[in-house]
Amino acid sequence: MEALMYKRKYLIKGELQVPGDKSISHRAVILGSIANGRTEIVNFLDSEDCMRTVEAFRLMGVSIQKNDNVLIIDGKGLHGLVEPTMPLYFGNSGTTARLMLGLLSGLPFSTLVYGDKSLTKRPMERVIKPLQQMGVQTIGRKESNYLPLALRGGSLTGITYNIPVKSAQVKSALLLAGLLANGKTTVIEQGQTRNHSENMLKAFGASIEVEDNMITIDSSMSLKATDVYIPGDISSAAFLMAAAAIIPGSNLVIKNVGLNETRTGFLDVLTNMGGLYTLSNIRDSGGETIGDISITYNELTGTVISGEIVPRLIDEIPIIALLATQAKGKTIIKDASELRVKETDRIQAVVDVLTKLGANIVETKDGMEIVGGTNLTGGTVSSYDDHRIAMMIVIASLVTTDIVKVDELQSIAISYPRFMQDLESVLRNM
Ligand code: S3P
Repeated sequence: MEALMYKRKYLIKGELQVPGDKSISHRAVILGSIANGRTEIVNFLDSEDCMRTVEAFRLMGVSIQKNDNVLIIDGKGLHGLVEPTMPLYFGNSGTTARLMLGLLSGLPFSTLVYGDKSLTKRPMERVIKPLQQMGVQTIGRKESNYLPLALRGGSLTGITYNIPVKSAQVKSALLLAGLLANGKTTVIEQGQTRNHSENMLKAFGASIEVEDNMITIDSSMSLKATDVYIPGDISSAAFLMAAAAIIPGSNLVIKNVGLNETRTGFLDVLTNMGGLYTLSNIRDSGGETIGDISITYNELTGTVISGEIVPRLIDEIPIIALLATQAKGKTIIKDASELRVKETDRIQAVVDVLTKLGANIVETKDGMEIVGGTNLTGGTVSSYDDHRIAMMIVIASLVTTDIVKVDELQSIAISYPRFMQDLESVLRNM
């Protein structure tokens, strides 16, 4: 049990950089490993989830060296990976699982893959079904909907597929399979999801075309090694920004944050709630937009979050719920049932935690409703072993009047290992 004893004694002031983007880090490891030649990844996110992807490629014969946050990959080419002699362990990482299932389906060998308790409960059918249509053979529980899974890959044929869920992981899995399939693979999205795979595949020289919500990839003979700079993760930055947004007198600058439009729903919500921030030093790097964010405390008001914006802020909903408890009026979050199949059921977890801390919040089938302006008290809560719930609890404890006790904070290492140190570095006594 960890005790968080901030009890409204601090405000947030200063400047920092958050670690590299998790989604982009995974993709850089994957493409670097299957490209020909050396890829250098600067500002790689050295977190548990991303290391699961690194270890999977090491088991397939790729040499990957890590010096602080620089990763050097000697890519084996699309046809140079070797059959792993051990099962691949994906830990807690849904991105590793879905994207690797796509790639492994295209490789001419057998693999066994498994994950931790949380990942073992998450649906894989969303990627397995279209991959089976392309030609992969699988064995696993509930018609291969769950890990552990055994795969026999190779000899895929390209398909055209309407993705029924709004998921960048599914899209990316099919694009990676498409790189190795005979003929073209086309995926059609119901709504825009994060497009880091498309951007990076282009940068590595893949034959890929994006037309509105339709993406077509042709099989490739080879990809060319390409150095990648990973922008700061806006999903990590959101926690520190939220702290500055709810503690009077705060002002925080976060430098070099990824501002890809498919990821900035949190900023739009902050604007709608009356949050005060400015963006500066905006530039482009490898198809990704980067910039600095400066945020100043301002009174917030409730808002409605639904529809197209949801995939642009899906991972930020736990921390947005906390913002809503501190805003005037009501906030409604809907169309977010995907939250129920994240690292934990995040609708249930957020409502449970914030209720225990004194918030006025109710669960709905696809979201939650929050009446803001409540004084958060304190109490004993569970993080559900979910990194984003754990970080939300830490930020909540900055505005509670009493101590918050939480069962664990280790899970934060999944996406933001130095979160507590970064937070401490910008805390100032009131
Ligand atoms: C991710 C996509 C999202 C997101 C996850 C990372 C990715 O998941 O929640 O944290 O890197 O593609 P879905 O694709 O399941 O929506």
